[in-house]
Amino acid sequence: MIAENTFQGPPVAEGSRRVGALFEPFSPSYADNPALAFYQAAHREAPVAYSEAFSAYLVVGHAEVTQVLREPVGFSSAHILDLPPDLPPEVIAELQRGIYQMPPALFNNDPPGHTRARALFSKAFTTARLASLEPTIALAAEALVRAMDPGGDPVDLMQALAFPLPLQIIAALVGIPLEDAPLLRACQDERFKLYEPALDTARKVEAARRFVAYERYLANLIERRRAEPADDLITALIGARVDGEAPLSVEEMISHIIILFFAGYETVASLIGSLVLRLLEAPALWDAIGSDAALLQAAMEETLRIDAPVQMEPRRATAPAVVGGVEIPSGATAFAFFGAANHDPAVFPDPQRFDVNRHVAGPRARHLGFGWGVHTCIGAALARIEVRCAVQALRAAFPGLRLAAARPSYAPSLFFRKPTAMPVTLGAA
Ligand code: HEM
Repeated sequence: MIAENTFQGPPVAEGSRRVGALFEPFSPSYADNPALAFYQAAHREAPVAYSEAFSAYLVVGHAEVTQVLREPVGFSSAHILDLPPDLPPEVIAELQRGIYQMPPALFNNDPPGHTRARALFSKAFTTARLASLEPTIALAAEALVRAMDPGGDPVDLMQALAFPLPLQIIAALVGIPLEDAPLLRACQDERFKLYEPALDTARKVEAARRFVAYERYLANLIERRRAEPADDLITALIGARVDGEAPLSVEEMISHIIILFFAGYETVASLIGSLVLRLLEAPALWDAIGSDAALLQAAMEETLRIDAPVQMEPRRATAPAVVGGVEIPSGATAFAFFGAANHDPAVFPDPQRFDVNRHVAGPRARHLGFGWGVHTCIGAALARIEVRCAVQALRAAFPGLRLAAARPSYAPSLFFRKPTAMPVTLGAA
């Protein structure tokens, strides 16, 4: 996902490099607890560290991450979804049958293009549209929970509820028939295969073919909605207009939809999983949220802080900058760690403690679980509704729910924090 770094290596302080070497996102201990593995040392010694392994500045402190996010042009997102520069020609030829590089949408765009795209997208992705989805979300969550079999204990909550719910909701939102959603999602995942250096060319060609088929499916769907409008996001994107701006092109709409699947599926699943885990680790909380919606909301915010599903996103410096006293040269890659900023002890005292009171009383310190600045998550309200409906349905059906494994594991990842599985026993229904 990160385009080629144009920058060759800086004079960085030794301490910064030493702390940066602790950033080992694919090691099991890091996946288990990135705060213990890296964030704590970085907050103590180098809120802007440097990783030789990733040739990137690791921006960790809350003030420092916010500074980077406040400057979306100086720290650009434009290349965030670019294809790797060294793809074999056969793979490029296959991709060129569709849209070769994804056109800028939201996530992979900088102002002023981002400002236009976000204004147009917001015309379709309205509060009213999201609110109208709430009954659908509640029904879908209840149906998934009803389908869990207490005789089949233990149940993997990720597969039974956390993944299927956001998939169904994105399909309903966009206007994709539910039966097509799992296959489309699988085709979309094929794109990530193009970034795997070890994968052979034949497999990459196949991945490109399936991804292009998915783009064609979306292009056909857009043309169908042009002829026969429906009450869905595709129809709304087709009609979205902002004074003085060109409407979205078909390629831009496809890019928006692909990014929605990418941004709003595993993230929601991760938050459902991590939140249920935190609640079950404190059974009194699990009991109390049954009748206390505000408490559930506070627990959700605390989970977004402590287990941010998106731990980090990369940026590219387009001009020299000084962040946390460290000089970042033009062309360098900077990783903005939302997850680490959320563990900054200067902003969140005793950051490893799961404390719902941080969000129910007093002046609210801002967690960066949904990002910050112009790229702040546009789906935050939708995510909060989905997660609330999922947990409420689960709590209502299975008040005796308990963890079946001591501590479910988290998947090693450069960007995300996602439970791999969440085995639970349902208890008496
Ligand atoms: C718990 C669930 C979610 C989390 C933790 C999350 C987190 C984030 C974060 C951290 C960003 C900022 C990325 C950056 O600055 O580079 C972001 C952006 C975005 N999110 Fe979410 N997200 C969630 C759910 C969703 C949902 C449900 C949708 C839509 C269906 C969505 C759509 C987007 C989009 C389109 C952007 C890019 C916005 C822009 O660049 O203007 N997200 N999200």
